[in-house]
Amino acid sequence: MTATSIGKPLTRVDGRAKVTGAAHYAADFNQPDQLYAVIVNATVGLGRVSGIWNDEVERMPGVVAVITHHNAPKLAYLPHKAVIDPADGERLHVLQDDEVRFYGQPVAVVVAQTLDHAERAAAALRVTYAARPPLVDPSDPRAEAIVPAAATRARALADRARGDADGAVAQAPIKIDETYEIARENHNPMEPHATIAAWKEERLTLWSKSQYLVNEQAEIAAVFGMPAENVEVVCPFIGGAFGTSLRTWPHVTLAAVAARHVGRPVKLVLTRKQMFFATGHRPRTRQRVALGATPEGRLTGIVHEGTGETSRYEQFMEALTNVTDYLYSCPNVRTQYRLTPLDTSTPNHMRGPGEASGIFALESAIDELSYKLGIDPVALRRRNEPELDEAENKPFSSRSLVQCYELGSERFGWARRTPEPRSMRDGRLLIGMGAATATYPAYQAPAHARVRLLGDGVAEVEAAASDMGPGTYTSMTQVAAEFLGLPPEQVRFNLGRSAYPQTPSHGGSWTMASVGSAIRAACIAAQAEAARRAMADDNSPLFRAPVGDLEWSEGRLRRRGQTGAGLSYGDIVARSGRPVEADGSAERGGDVAERYSMHSFGAVFAEVAIDPDVGTIRVRRIVGAYGIGRVVNPLLARSQCTGGMIGGIGMALMERTVLDPRDGRPVNAHMADYLMPVNLDIPRLEAHFVDEVDPHVNALGVKGLGEIALVGTAPAIANAVFHATGKRVRSLPIHIDDVLSA
Ligand code: MOS
Repeated sequence: MTATSIGKPLTRVDGRAKVTGAAHYAADFNQPDQLYAVIVNATVGLGRVSGIWNDEVERMPGVVAVITHHNAPKLAYLPHKAVIDPADGERLHVLQDDEVRFYGQPVAVVVAQTLDHAERAAAALRVTYAARPPLVDPSDPRAEAIVPAAATRARALADRARGDADGAVAQAPIKIDETYEIARENHNPMEPHATIAAWKEERLTLWSKSQYLVNEQAEIAAVFGMPAENVEVVCPFIGGAFGTSLRTWPHVTLAAVAARHVGRPVKLVLTRKQMFFATGHRPRTRQRVALGATPEGRLTGIVHEGTGETSRYEQFMEALTNVTDYLYSCPNVRTQYRLTPLDTSTPNHMRGPGEASGIFALESAIDELSYKLGIDPVALRRRNEPELDEAENKPFSSRSLVQCYELGSERFGWARRTPEPRSMRDGRLLIGMGAATATYPAYQAPAHARVRLLGDGVAEVEAAASDMGPGTYTSMTQVAAEFLGLPPEQVRFNLGRSAYPQTPSHGGSWTMASVGSAIRAACIAAQAEAARRAMADDNSPLFRAPVGDLEWSEGRLRRRGQTGAGLSYGDIVARSGRPVEADGSAERGGDVAERYSMHSFGAVFAEVAIDPDVGTIRVRRIVGAYGIGRVVNPLLARSQCTGGMIGGIGMALMERTVLDPRDGRPVNAHMADYLMPVNLDIPRLEAHFVDEVDPHVNALGVKGLGEIALVGTAPAIANAVFHATGKRVRSLPIHIDDVLSA
């Protein structure tokens, strides 16, 4: 196939709408007669609500209702797989009882005429508690790690072993055995979570920030015990999400409860502070990695044990040790994953979940090993490059890691690096260069799409997908343009409505593979239907033409070899008097997943400059080279990668949610104290893509992009910090004081 749209650096089709303010985000869908809801959060970390003085507040100006567990409706909460499987716990039931399970749990909702009235009343609502001390620190000796329930169902979460890893490490002439920690982090997208809920009899419309509209629809239907078709979710634009909107959090239920209670539309927007305890977080993790190697640098054993935190009521799991048994050639590998239930809210997927955290430990340990061996860290990785996935004993569908290291090394100038720690300087600054491997699974899930060819020659394409920033509007427009043979300007792609054909969550880097493949199928079906119409139309020059004689080019149907005008989609639609409509769906074909190990790979290089006197760490450059199959839009792909790198800078050097051990309160729940990279923290970032053709993953040849951009960045930076200072920091984020003692 000669691509006409796929692979082109099309600028964002929604760019103008975004910069002019025409794009409507959830909270922009104000409804006539709308009221405002504000959630009142528990101010203790564990216990019971002993009293709520709502009478006083109900008399305050503008207040319409105060909803607590005393007057809230009893909700159905039917079983529903809302990201977390029902086997792994039960979602928080809001305002159903007096129990407080974590700091910040909603204990009341105030509904008022204006946001000001609602905020004032919420602040004035007196709530008393019978409190007990919560356990929120996973390193507390009373905290117990458990085997995740899902270990019995999901290989990525189960303990895995080949050979005798512990024995191999014990006997290895060269070994590393260290513990790595990563702080709790919060997603902190620009756009806060927001829901506007409006009931019309038994039908509920939610204008609601969501990365997974069809799930939000099904989840809220299950909460209220009503048919899913009675719920519509609308979310055409997302101001960043990074995983936090994959779940339908309790505030969506509360908005719907409030709207029903007052009989008017209700708008509920979370505050920045509330987003620190109510909408998931990257769990704190503690990992042990032990490596054994020969003096020549051949890995003989890998042990990776990781523990994450979760809530008491649900087990949130992420693929913390997922990459460890396929990344390197090694006969003896053992991985283990555990969870520590704590008195906090449930964590959630955040920016490369699992893989990003796990690879920090693994790729730091590999770097440590390289110094112990006196082997260049890039050379060490190449020396242990596997020929196949040794964990599953099957070939990779494609794996360009060596090419990524070659391209990345060259663009970064790795050859200029001198191996000794503290050996590179720029004036009085210590310079460090570090590298790390990135990898992320190439997932695909069943998805559906619809194409409508209109009389004016425009193709309307729709799917219940989301675009949280990667450019889904644009890339899907390109896919449709490609398979319809139309210029992208003649394609209108709509997403963000649960009523559109169903798609999987907008996460896991699988949107292009899943939704893109469905759009491709729908376009092919629409084209076939258009041809059928042309052949069935006795006024058409193509009437009864044999199928084999016809061909499409540039959106026109002609007899093969003929050069005339042929028929455009618009012509065919006009002649038949009705739009051509076709549905398409796609899922990963046949036994591809059984036969191939499918992952993206990348090589990330970072340069840091550290002031030896005051310990400030500046990232100077990051260069990433990735093999992600086909690149649908290089402009968007680069943008996604540099965005991921910025997230990685945050993870490496800044982001940490600190809980008060006495009550589980996040003490830095605001943008002043939860540090994230700002413009001055962001250096030159380069993303390169190796030419990679993967004939197995799907017909589009795409492996997906997004999460891998974050994976590998934090260890590359940490490894650069070691190279600069000779100080190995095994706990993220790396602080000034960690390197000051160097
Ligand atoms: Mo992503 S953490 O799957 O939104």
